[in-house]
Amino acid sequence: MNSLSTRKLIAYGASSVLLEAYKSSTFSTQFSFCVDRDPTNTTLSEYLPVVSPEDLTSKFSSGDLIVVTALATSSILAICEYLISLGYRRNEDFILWSEFASEKFAERVQANLDWQLSTADLHYINAMSMASRLDSQTSQLGIWLVRGAIEATKSLNGSVAEVGVFQGGNAIIQLSLMNQSADTRNYRLIDSFAGFPDFSHEDNTVLQDNYSPEMYHESRLRSILKGFPNTSVHKGFVPEILQTLDETEKYSLIFYDCDLYQPAVDVLEYFWDKLVSGGILIFHDYISANDLWRGVKVAVDEFVEQNDVQLEYFLETTMCILIKP
Ligand SMILES: C[S@@+](CC[C@H](N)C(=O)[O-])C[C@H]1O[C@@H](n2cnc3c(N)ncnc32)[C@H](O)[C@@H]1O
Repeated sequence: MNSLSTRKLIAYGASSVLLEAYKSSTFSTQFSFCVDRDPTNTTLSEYLPVVSPEDLTSKFSSGDLIVVTALATSSILAICEYLISLGYRRNEDFILWSEFASEKFAERVQANLDWQLSTADLHYINAMSMASRLDSQTSQLGIWLVRGAIEATKSLNGSVAEVGVFQGGNAIIQLSLMNQSADTRNYRLIDSFAGFPDFSHEDNTVLQDNYSPEMYHESRLRSILKGFPNTSVHKGFVPEILQTLDETEKYSLIFYDCDLYQPAVDVLEYFWDKLVSGGILIFHDYISANDLWRGVKVAVDEFVEQNDVQLEYFLETTMCILIKP
């Protein structure tokens, strides 16, 4: 593959990370244009030309590099399959955003948090997420950051919890990697497995129809989890489901991924005191394009202001991190 810096770059997938990066002008990468199946329905076109997939071949020249910037695994897979059907070759004509952005991202994580992200883990995450029949709504870089947090808290005494699990794609990858590194902490999986509760006034109602019961594969997930001894599934809505947990249990890491304001408030209220010193709370969707998940940001910012906690965020993943002093 030619040096990335000399190649004309094309983004594929008008994702929220791409839009937010352009909006906040923190982005050093310059794409020539973006391909998206819905070119007229994205505000990214205010910053970057967006064309439909059918227009790609006429605009692509030999030597150009397509970066698959979609975030959800199902979208990444669909795009890769489409590109392969057009004759484009992985790692020659197109690469994944997680591969393209990984080096600079890992450097920043090291500089800001002193965590070492393992490249071998990223390869594993990319392969596993694309081979899994359980979708992950966390981007590959996001899964990598959560993996980094799991490693960083490994020596702490306390359970891990993922609040907002969906099909379990992220959880299974994290558990497989924990298994490989002999990390035997409890992993609690918490979800309604039935979609969202009522929205609060802080949430963006555009999201309201994102989930429906038939999107979950709960029995498949539960059966796979039988292979991981220290796991438990907690089915129900936050906050009620939190009251069924052992209230004496301590935690070293919480990954919050419920998209909404009130569960974020409830999670902060329930788990902050149960986190051991050095324990980590990660919020997905802290950064969101067009304020799509604005409730999460409002909840976290309110907490940080009231509690004088340090916050680090990573635009590439939409995540922010709070570390318990
Ligand atoms: C973005 S998905 C989680 C994605 C998952 N972490 C992954 O990486 O693939 C959001 C999930 O939060 C769940 N959820 C949202 N609000 C909830 C609440 N109040 N209580 C329980 N689950 C909730 C939804 O059912 C949905 O499965």
